[in-house]
Amino acid sequence: MRNETLLAVGVLCAGLAACGPSEPEPVVEQIVVREPGDPAVGAGAPTLSEGAGEVDLVALGERAFQACTGCHNADPGGASMAGPNLHGVMGRAAGSRDDFAYSEALASSGITWDFATLDRYLANPTGYVEGTAMVAGAVRDGETRAAIAAYLASTSE
Ligand code: HEC
Repeated sequence: MRNETLLAVGVLCAGLAACGPSEPEPVVEQIVVREPGDPAVGAGAPTLSEGAGEVDLVALGERAFQACTGCHNADPGGASMAGPNLHGVMGRAAGSRDDFAYSEALASSGITWDFATLDRYLANPTGYVEGTAMVAGAVRDGETRAAIAAYLASTSE
């Protein structure tokens, strides 16, 4: 009897240990509650360079990309629409797809798309590239821009 009790306690402890600390908040919630001036994506929060966080950020970006799909898709081999196909856009020279008639402004901008340039463009397309034909689709929230960039980067892999 005494042995059975000890065994039961042992199983209970093992079960608790397996449960471990509770899961971290989803990234989307951390982004929503963050106040201006707070430290960038708080201590312990998943970031782009940490595996689990990357998945969440990419998923968040994929959802946010819905704001772009009226004009763009990021499908491999997808057609350009009102805006150019964005599959694998990271690392690409701006205005370089053959199947899209870019504005002269973007085509001659000399921009290569990376996290920094995409962030500036999405924050204010016409402010960054005066004369660009992308006159809608600006994204005010910096975390959302980062998530969209992470999603677009993931399509290059
Ligand atoms: C109203 C239509 C429209 C919306 C909405 C829109 N775009 Fe665009 N986008 C364009 C057009 C048109 C261009 C081409 C601009 C040019 O030629 O100057 C463009 C160009 C781009 C480029 C440059 C691509 C290249 O090949 O150089 C990127 C990156 C981009 N858009 C990202 C986005 C993202 C991300 C969103 C959503 C947050 C978005 N756009 C929303 C119309 C749109």
